[in-house]
Amino acid sequence: MRRLTAFPLGRRLECGMGFDKTRLRILDDRDLEGALIRALEVTLAAVHEALFAHAGGRLLAPPRFVLEAEHGRLVFTAGAETRSSHALGFRDYETCPDRIPDHAQLVAVWDARDGRLLGVLGTGFQARHHALAALLARPFEQVRVYSRSPENRAAFARWLASHTQTPVEAVDSAKEVVRAADVLLEVTSSRTPVFDPALLKPGAHVSAVGPKLKDARALPLEAALGSDLRVSAPPARLEAYGGYFLPPEARRRVVPLSALVAKQHPGRRRADAGTVFLSAGLAGTEPVVARRLFETFGGGGYDSGA
Ligand SMILES: NC(=O)c1ccc[n+]([C@@H]2O[C@H](COP(=O)([O-])OP(=O)(O)OC[C@H]3O[C@@H](n4cnc5c(N)ncnc54)[C@H](OP(=O)(O)O)[C@@H]3O)[C@@H](O)[C@H]2O)c1
Repeated sequence: MRRLTAFPLGRRLECGMGFDKTRLRILDDRDLEGALIRALEVTLAAVHEALFAHAGGRLLAPPRFVLEAEHGRLVFTAGAETRSSHALGFRDYETCPDRIPDHAQLVAVWDARDGRLLGVLGTGFQARHHALAALLARPFEQVRVYSRSPENRAAFARWLASHTQTPVEAVDSAKEVVRAADVLLEVTSSRTPVFDPALLKPGAHVSAVGPKLKDARALPLEAALGSDLRVSAPPARLEAYGGYFLPPEARRRVVPLSALVAKQHPGRRRADAGTVFLSAGLAGTEPVVARRLFETFGGGGYDSGA
């Protein structure tokens, strides 16, 4: 957990203890009143997000705690939603007698994310675009990359740095990437395994893009078999692969990515569960993507002159 954001609604917050002030951000009523409509839009969307999380069993919302004092009460409500907003915090307000006209309340929120690291093995075309897409999809604090050639690593780091603010570090071994990665992208053309699965952190996710054949695979078989959840294209699509690396029993238990996206499958059930995505492509996605790109960017034709 890193940042603390305090959000006092009211005017009598006087002190805070044990905070790193450089990481503390404060908003009060006046900050929001200056952009009231936008603040309400954000608030409504966030309430919807919290209710949706509650319906899905992902909002921790224990009963409130009330401190009864001689001349008033202090009420605490605490909660957490750590999937989408990554918010963990509490609200605290007093109900002192009315001699004080302006009752104060405080909402404090901690960022429940760890400093997450995106590890990348491979530095080619696919590695660049998978890394950039991962940075757009998830907040990462750092990228660490390895491929065999120092020149390729440096070129990858330059390219990624020109598209994102996230720091990129090129290192001299796959080991340095794998043991630090929260998410590991294996994006190589190697026909032999490129990392030792025993080095993976508990709860790490691996996306395997390189070859996945019995006799030519970049992903170690144990990385797939040892994971708690294997996700890919529908099993029937994998059956048609010809020489696919997973044994039949494990192949049948692969969960289609579309089932996860549509929430027909609950996905990871424990924070320390390892997960693997075995990229295989899903026929039909390309025309949909191409159509949307044409709608967005237009595109020229050519005149045959006939
Ligand atoms: N699953 C899918 O849906 C899908 C879709 C498209 C492509 N692919 C596959 O993805 C792979 C990568 O494609 P690409 O276009 O990015 O190829 P590429 O531009 O040729 O890049 C291959 C990368 O692999 C690295 N590499 C090879 N052996 C390595 C090793 N032992 N350790 C670390 N890095 C290693 C190379 O870097 P160094 O030479 O510096 O080591 C290079 O950066 C290909 O096998 C391709 O068939 C899969």
